[in-house]
Amino acid sequence: MDAIQEVENQLNELLLQKFEERVQSGDAVEPKDWMPEAYRKHLVRQISQHAHSEVIGMQPEGNWITRAPSLRAKQILLAKIQDEGGHGLYLYSAAETLGISRDEMIAQLHSGKAKYSNIFNYPALTWADIGAIGWLVDGAAIVNQVSLQRTSYGPYSRAMVRICKEESFHQRQGYEIMAHMMRGTAEQREMAQDAMNRWWWPSLMMFGPHDSESPHAGDAFRWKIKRHSNDELRQKFIDKTVQQAEVIGLRIPDPDLKWNETTGHYDHGEINWDEFRNVINGKGPCNKQRTDHHKKVHEDGAWVRIAAQAYYDKRANKN
Ligand code: 3HC
Repeated sequence: MDAIQEVENQLNELLLQKFEERVQSGDAVEPKDWMPEAYRKHLVRQISQHAHSEVIGMQPEGNWITRAPSLRAKQILLAKIQDEGGHGLYLYSAAETLGISRDEMIAQLHSGKAKYSNIFNYPALTWADIGAIGWLVDGAAIVNQVSLQRTSYGPYSRAMVRICKEESFHQRQGYEIMAHMMRGTAEQREMAQDAMNRWWWPSLMMFGPHDSESPHAGDAFRWKIKRHSNDELRQKFIDKTVQQAEVIGLRIPDPDLKWNETTGHYDHGEINWDEFRNVINGKGPCNKQRTDHHKKVHEDGAWVRIAAQAYYDKRANKN
């Protein structure tokens, strides 16, 4: 190895050491800071997939705007879906600070190279599903995102602070729908329980595989991208949600669910990891429908992007 290569290697080792010290000290990493390529790639993967999840998540809920049972319910649902679109934009912008373009991220989504959350590959069959999505899905997202507020990458952490404020409203409105239905007719109570039965387990899957099965956990903790593990956050979600279900009379569809006095947590049954792997690898009930719809809307909306770019270019040339 020649002398220049030797010096370069020593410099990189020094930069990596300084980076590790900085992350361990709790300092935020900013876009212009030196960072290991593996750190950048890890974040591009996670943040872009997070953004895709926010935008794809608008589909199951969007299907119910015209069928909301009241003007108030419609207004709340519209506000929530608009928030999700905004969350997607914050997160795409955070990912762009790492050097990937919006077009590249969208191409990765459309080609299947990028994932989005498993949960949005299930159909929203009844109005109670909109309650279950708000309460369980956004409830799970809050547990995950509150932890991510302390992620080491500055733009991601700041996006999380902003998003978490809005997620709390999403979770609350979903819980209100479920509580309202559980005070309703037998048919409404049955509809709410049916939604609970279909959304409970996929919501637990949102937190990812067991820590022992997580290929990204090592770097995620080494570089403080994650502050809590998949299993820790899943357990936190279960412990708080079981009590909320009991208050409104919903049953958790897990015969093995049992309070454990020793650990101070709920023991629960095993997740169907075959279902999880199928769904995140494109074989869920709605995967094709979700990505086909995104592709069509992206194509239909191309004229808006072209017009906005032309306007921007004209303005830029004038100045
Ligand atoms: N859905 C789809 N893929 C998942 C997944 C899930 N629920 N959980 C894990 N995976 C994938 C990972 O992406 C990874 O695959 P990849 O290498 O192709 O990216 C593989 O399974 C291994 O999982 P790991 O746990 O090792 O991966 P991570 O360390 O990235 O952890 C995660 C997974 C916990 C989802 C993490 O990426 C994360 O915290 N992401 C940010 C939060 C997020 O994306 N939430 C999605 C929901 S957003 C939402 O609900 C919007 C709300 O407003 C409705």
